Parts: sequence; C-alpha cells; structure tokens
Amino acid sequence: MAAAGDRKYDIVCVGATGYTGRLTAEYITRYLPTDIKWAVAGRNHQKLLDLVRHLKSFEVDRPNPAVEVINFEDDASLAELAGKSRLSIAVAGPYAQCGSGVFKACAENGTHYVDCNGETPWLRDMIAKYDSTAKQTGSIMLPSSGIASTPAALLTHLLVHYTLTAHSLPTSSVLLSVRALRGQPSGGTVATILDLMSRYGVVELTAASATFALAPRKPSKRRTGAAPGALNAAGFARVRGLWGAGEGGPADEEAVLIKAKGEDHDKAVVERAWGIYAEAAESQAPGGTGQFASYGENFAFAMRAHVPSVGSALVQFWGYVAFILALLLPPVRWAVGKYWFAPGEGLDEKGREGNLVEYVAMAHADRTGEMEDAGKEKTTRGRMRFNGDVYWLTGLFLAEAAMIVLRERDTDAHRIGGGVLTPAFLGERFAERLKKAGVEIEVEDVE
Ligand SMILES: NC(=O)c1ccc[n+]([C@@H]2O[C@H](COP(=O)([O-])OP(=O)(O)OC[C@H]3O[C@@H](n4cnc5c(N)ncnc54)[C@H](OP(=O)(O)O)[C@@H]3O)[C@@H](O)[C@H]2O)c1
Repeated sequence: MAAAGDRKYDIVCVGATGYTGRLTAEYITRYLPTDIKWAVAGRNHQKLLDLVRHLKSFEVDRPNPAVEVINFEDDASLAELAGKSRLSIAVAGPYAQCGSGVFKACAENGTHYVDCNGETPWLRDMIAKYDSTAKQTGSIMLPSSGIASTPAALLTHLLVHYTLTAHSLPTSSVLLSVRALRGQPSGGTVATILDLMSRYGVVELTAASATFALAPRKPSKRRTGAAPGALNAAGFARVRGLWGAGEGGPADEEAVLIKAKGEDHDKAVVERAWGIYAEAAESQAPGGTGQFASYGENFAFAMRAHVPSVGSALVQFWGYVAFILALLLPPVRWAVGKYWFAPGEGLDEKGREGNLVEYVAMAHADRTGEMEDAGKEKTTRGRMRFNGDVYWLTGLFLAEAAMIVLRERDTDAHRIGGGVLTPAFLGERFAERLKKAGVEIEVEDVE
C-alpha cells in the first residue's frame, strides 16, 4: 500500500454519477484548488465519461479528473481504489446497499473518508465494525457530513465551544430548529428512505436512534437538564428565543416547533460527538490543561422545525407520523417509488432556483453546582443559512470538509488522528471555510 503522501489522487469521488455526486463533482471542478489531483469513480464507465464531458463545459483551467470504474461487490477492487487516494468522498447510495465496501476499504487502507449518509442503523453497523480499524490506520472518517448532519453537528459544536470559552461553562442543552427549508428530495434520497424502511424492522430502526445509540459511552450521571423544546401531547412546542417562522422579526418572537424530520439521525450524530469528546477529555492527564473538553455531563440535544401556526403543526406533525407508518406497507413504498423522481434524478438547475435552508439554535450553559449566580441563565444563540439548494450545499459541505482533512492540521479530527468521527471535529476551521463559500454562520450571546 502506498504511503498516504505518495498516492495518485488527493480525492476520489465515489458514486460521482448520481444526482448528489454530479453536484459534488461540479463543486470540486469550480471551487477547489486546481492543484488537487482527483478522480471520479462509479460502476458505469459511460456515465463517468459523460460526467467528465459535462465538467469540461465549465471551462475551468484545470486537468480533467481521472476515471475509475469499480465493482462495488468486489473488496479487492475497492481496496485498490482506496489505496490510490488520500481521501474518498462517498456519494453512492443507498449506503446500506452499496456503501459498506467503500467504508471498509477506506478504514483498512488509512484513506480519509467523507460521506452524506443519513442511515442510522447502517452507520451504527459501520462504527461497530470499523471504528477501531480506522483508529489504527489513521483514517479520519467523517460520515454524515452532508445536510445530514453538518448543520446540527457544527452549529451545536460552535455553541458549546462558545459557552466554554466565553463563560467557562459546560452546556446543558442545545435546541436546534430548521427555520426555513425550500427544496425537494432527490430520487436517490427517496429510494434510500424506502430501502431503509424495507431493510430494517421497526425494532432495529428504533434501537439505532435511541438516545446516545451512536456514542461510545452514555452520560455517567443522571441528567438534570430539562429536555430542550419538549413537545406537548399534540406534538408541538412553543419556544421563545429562536425567532418566529417568517423572515425578519425579533429573535425573542414566539415560535411554534414540531419534531424535525431528520432529528433522529442528527441527534445520534451530535450525541456521538458528545461521547467522543467526553472520552477524550477523560483520557487526558488529570489536572492538566488538556486539548479536549467535554460538552458537559448533563448535555441534551433536540431538533425541531418551525411551522407558521399551531394549526399547521397539527397537520404537519400527524401527517408525517401517518406517512412514516404508511411506508411500512409495501404497496405504499411501491407507489412512492413509482411516482417520485427516479434514482439519479432530482430538481434541475431551474427547479433549484430560489431554494434555501436556515437553521437556528439556542444553547443553555450548565450552571448546576455553581453557588454564585446559580439559576441565572447564560444563553447563546446561533444561525446557519444558505441561499441555495440543499443538494448543492451537500456537495459544498463534502468538498470543503475534504479540503480541511487534506490541507489543515489543527482540527480536533487531526488531533484525535483517526476513527469514525463527525463533522463537529472540523470545528472552527469548517465554519471559516463554509463562510468563505457563502454559508452564513453566526454565534452570539443572548443578553
Ligand atoms: N442526508 C444527506 O445529507 C444527503 C444528501 C444528499 C444525498 N444523500 C444520500 O446520498 C445518496 C445518493 O443520493 P443521490 O440523490 O445522489 O442518489 P442517486 O442520484 O440515485 O445516485 C446514487 C449513486 O449511487 C450509485 N449506486 C446506486 N446503487 C448502486 C449499487 N448497488 N452499486 C453501485 N453503485 C450504486 C449510482 O450509480 P449509477 O449512476 O451507476 O446508477 C449513483 O452514482 C443517497 O443514499 C442519499 O440518501 C444524503
């Protein structure tokens, strides 16, 4: 196996022929440094050649990516590709169907890895099988670095970090909410949801999204903090401090929130970061000023979505519950698969125009045990917004995360040195790069 520095490519985009893969390849072509050596990989040679032809149309002064045809069923073919590259961006999915071999090959060959999976049971399986291998080979693995779960993981991390550095306090809760979202799921996303529902039973799906299911350890103490944004029996919460549902308006306007569609996966990813930081902080020399700090032993996270009114909360929440239950029925899955975009398709460039996404979040410091000022709130607020489509944003996240892994040294991911991590471990560096790429990110104290 070639040493990481001597490999033929810096980046291989695996599954580049899909909807998200094509956008990721376009982002790399247009915005990554021209000295990046890279390849597009997939199972279909002709589609890869068509993609390279499409990328040429941007007329960027850079060499074309190389083309690598791989057999996803053959471990040797995947290992050979992983051994040629310093990092893989894996965008072939459903991941439970065709992602495991790529994940394994990267872990075993010390190849860094970034993906955009939102499949919690699959990710749980990958962590169980390959986390220790990746730690040994020094492969920095960042699954779920797309729209699931970069905003949740990164915004939470920035708020926790702010609370720690500005107030010297751990965090007791982070409540994140999707304040605005305009866009449509791709055919590949819908195929993945259908695959998830038919591949795993209710028991497995529930177990994978149980609290702290992806974390290497659970909180040692009984958590005292109230669950942030707790939903009432009708499925909604009223919260102040996270702006209202409309554009503009003051931050302390009341918002009506429901459970966010991606909550279970994003929460599991955030809690994994909590667990890895807690373990890293514990393993430092006692009494020393270590480089890792725990989020806080009482930490709790919830993810909600803004809705305009209580009426729409009831319709949307119960409508979503009914839809998910209906997806357990094979005829419903068949109908959804037949009438939505097919795999490989999604909104075209015109259809993506005007799309946007905005996340807002609020963190409370943990003042448990403080004598002075105990009971007084210390709150921090954050916001991440992108005026563009979430699939383009996913490609942007993946490519920028890859650049940090390859070109930076001073992130917690590099200090930890390998293993299955989360986008949180790219921390401030990731936020800086995203801001330069047009993502609005703000963190502020609440007076
Ligand atoms: N949560 C997030 O942040 C997020 C965002 C975007 C996408 N995703 C996930 O990313 C994945 C891709 O999404 P997409 O919209 O790009 O889907 P897509 O357009 O259907 O593309 C799927 C890609 O995977 C390849 N592929 C599919 N089945 C395969 C198999 N059995 N063996 C080898 N290759 C296979 C396809 O190759 P061919 O072109 O040869 O068919 C294509 O390159 C999905 O799992 C989706 O859920 C997640």
